[in-house]
Amino acid sequence: MTIEAERRNLIKPIAATAPAPAPSSAREAAQLLLDRLWRIGTNFLGCERAILGGAMTWVSERNLVAAISNGGGFGVIACGAMSPELLDAEIAATAARTTRPFGVNLITMHPDLMALIEVCVRRKVGHIVLAGGLPTAAAVTRIKDSGAKLICFAPALAIARKLVRMGADAIVIEGMEAGGHIGPVSTSVLAQEILPQLRTVPVFVAGGIGRGEAIASYLEMGAAGVQLGTRFVCARESVAHARFKQAFLRAGARDAVPSVQLDQRFPVIPVRAIANDGSHAFAELQRAVIDRFNRGELSREDAQLEIEHFWAGALRRAVIEGDIESGSLMAGQSVGFVTREQSTREILDELVDEAVAALSTRARIALAEPPPLDDTDK
Ligand SMILES: Cc1cc2nc3c(=O)[nH]c(=O)nc-3n(C[C@H](O)[C@H](O)[C@H](O)COP(=O)(O)O)c2cc1C
Repeated sequence: MTIEAERRNLIKPIAATAPAPAPSSAREAAQLLLDRLWRIGTNFLGCERAILGGAMTWVSERNLVAAISNGGGFGVIACGAMSPELLDAEIAATAARTTRPFGVNLITMHPDLMALIEVCVRRKVGHIVLAGGLPTAAAVTRIKDSGAKLICFAPALAIARKLVRMGADAIVIEGMEAGGHIGPVSTSVLAQEILPQLRTVPVFVAGGIGRGEAIASYLEMGAAGVQLGTRFVCARESVAHARFKQAFLRAGARDAVPSVQLDQRFPVIPVRAIANDGSHAFAELQRAVIDRFNRGELSREDAQLEIEHFWAGALRRAVIEGDIESGSLMAGQSVGFVTREQSTREILDELVDEAVAALSTRARIALAEPPPLDDTDK
């Protein structure tokens, strides 16, 4: 069935003459509405709640991924720089912790991408997410031939359309509020640009989502579901170091800022993270490198490499070793909504409750009797 036919099917029962028993409360109506709004997403992912746990390198490993899937969402393993052997072990360990579906996120620039895809195929991973740039036709073909569903990131409508033509089965659009590597456009603008136009595949919205009200809004705009990363970092099942979690619990939206680029001759890939000594040192390093380049002491290539190497290993240092001073504290603006350590299920339940509450407010408004006419105006 095409996604358009699926959409038409979702609204059919509303118009039917013999409808299902009417919901007894606005809240029940809202729960039904939520189920219907994200049904294309839940059908696509094979889970109850169309909430993807965005892959986070070092954080999205067996424990958190399985907990998200067990909580009714859809966990995604972050392969990051893992070798094929490590990824194989991670998939096996995740499958040992959940019987529910989960996915694997692979970075297109990984030198062993095709071998990693083979690992996913052998392990019968149902959904593969390709992040970090346009995938090659070979990667797309191998994934599609295996029967796995392919999910790709699109930073603009034209690229989303190109990815769908190449074979992407679903698209994630991620705004600059997100943690980690970001583009220049906000989630709300991307959603308006892409959701009304891209109707042939499920589209999941990511970036800056911290509460269920936002989930409800993006679903009403046409999203099939959402993807959250930052909100899951302090989940009890997350293996992130206690100090890394503390940094999240202390931070507000304004602390999660994009990395600074000092000179347009030396581009810096923007990464959103909680500002710390490391971010200040990065600005100083750029200044020093640019000075040496200007004095002719460094070639342009070497200067660029020094800048690019600054953060190598920094996310691992922060997440695993708890070096929150000089490590990378990748986090989205929604970090302000991370206020305590909670179980993954609690986080998911809370998000769903908030979405339902938002939709039931709308239902109450829609069902209310219009106010009586005021005779005195006649
Ligand atoms: C610590 C951290 C690490 C991340 N690592 C990756 C990654 O390896 N691959 C990827 O595609 N996205 C990565 N992301 C982005 C998330 O998958 C997700 O899309 C993003 O967090 C969603 O926005 P939010 O942070 O506002 O919830 C990372 C995000 C964070 C916070």
